[in-house]
Amino acid sequence: MNFRIPRGTQDILPENSPMWRYVEQKAHDLCRRYNYKEIRTPIFEQTELFARGVGDTTDIVQKEMYTFEDRGGRSLTLRPEGTASTVRSYVENKMHGWADQPVKLYYVGPMFRYERPQSGRMRQFVQFGVEAMGSDDPAIDAEVIGLAMDFYRELGLKGLKLVINSLGDKESRNSHRNALINHFKPRITEFCPDCQQRLEQNPLRILDCKKDRDHELMENAPSILSYLNEESKKYFDRVQSYLGAMNIDFEVDPGLVRGLDYYNNTAFEIMIDGAGFGAITTLTGGGRYNGLVEEIGGPQTPGIGFALSLERLLMALETQGVELPTETGLDAYLIAIGEEAKSKAPSLLHTLRQSGLAVDADYLNKKMKAQFKAADRQGAAYTLILGDDEIAAGTIVVKNLNSGEQVNVSIEEAIQMIIENRQRKGA
Ligand code: HAM
Repeated sequence: MNFRIPRGTQDILPENSPMWRYVEQKAHDLCRRYNYKEIRTPIFEQTELFARGVGDTTDIVQKEMYTFEDRGGRSLTLRPEGTASTVRSYVENKMHGWADQPVKLYYVGPMFRYERPQSGRMRQFVQFGVEAMGSDDPAIDAEVIGLAMDFYRELGLKGLKLVINSLGDKESRNSHRNALINHFKPRITEFCPDCQQRLEQNPLRILDCKKDRDHELMENAPSILSYLNEESKKYFDRVQSYLGAMNIDFEVDPGLVRGLDYYNNTAFEIMIDGAGFGAITTLTGGGRYNGLVEEIGGPQTPGIGFALSLERLLMALETQGVELPTETGLDAYLIAIGEEAKSKAPSLLHTLRQSGLAVDADYLNKKMKAQFKAADRQGAAYTLILGDDEIAAGTIVVKNLNSGEQVNVSIEEAIQMIIENRQRKGA
């Protein structure tokens, strides 16, 4: 039997891992500057958490979850996103009582959705997300959006488009909801069965329907912005003015509703303009969720966050030809000539590695020429050649593979030379 990787997943092979580490490191560095602290939650949670948190009527909960029963008969689900888990942990660990508020958290880790795999849409993907809980100051909305934009900017991505909307507070949403029901009800039979169900359960979801997106009622559907009460309007204005002051360009799109149920007030997406990226153009999604902590069993607490997948980010960087740093080569490759030298090689390698050098050697009894070739392929800066003469003298031949120069020095001097060379190159 030939085993194959599951659909919608990928192996990240050694040549690509450095790129992943680089963007992950960028996320960690940026969050340190913005004072967001890392949280790591389990890969699976009680199914009910997502049904409640993400929302029963969303595609994620209805169609895309990897749900299974464990041997104890509990229903568990591989996390489809990170917000519900973060909020669960916030409540369970009573973070609302922490001295420093708002509590600003971030995560980087795999999420799972049973989606139809296509370019940029995976069944397992890695999200970098941030969540700030405990403040309803519009300045934190601008901070969260600014962090996401900075992440892309610092990685060198161009052609980004920030789209924002307000979904209003409870009161605004209710009047919008009624307007949507009145708008769609007379002709709801022309819509897909999912939308017919959504009409009473959650009419906002109709606006997000992929099947009915071209129906004529979609175009003139009531816009949430016409139903914002004074408070929601003021809030949205302040978010916009902060973004303006931060020189972050944005577009207001009243049709932006997001695919998860927990949002109110600010909602946003970062898209990428530009041909060649395929059908998927949304890189980041986020927004405010002032009712979620309460929904999960905590005290009334406002929150806001975003998530983006590293898969889509890396695709975008590749499309734009942005070069990311690759792994640096070995510091040295040890070539042992003769039986005695070979028997000394393991302990010498051990010493070199303990001194902080990245070193390797041949384990297949290859000829010397092949060993030199291997040193080249591995990007070694030096070869270290150990033969009978060197053993007798307690030295080693150090050959700089760049300049071709070689010297015969003690092991300590060799280590020193290689370290200094590395520091000169700034590695
Ligand atoms: P979301 O819009 O479902 O929101 O996902 C956010 C981002 O995750 C997307 O913009 C995309 O980059 C990535 N993503 C989603 N599904 C896939 C997939 N199948 N393959 C590859 N990438 C994908 C959330 O998940 C919310 N938890 C965001 C949030 C945090 N809102 C507030 N806080």
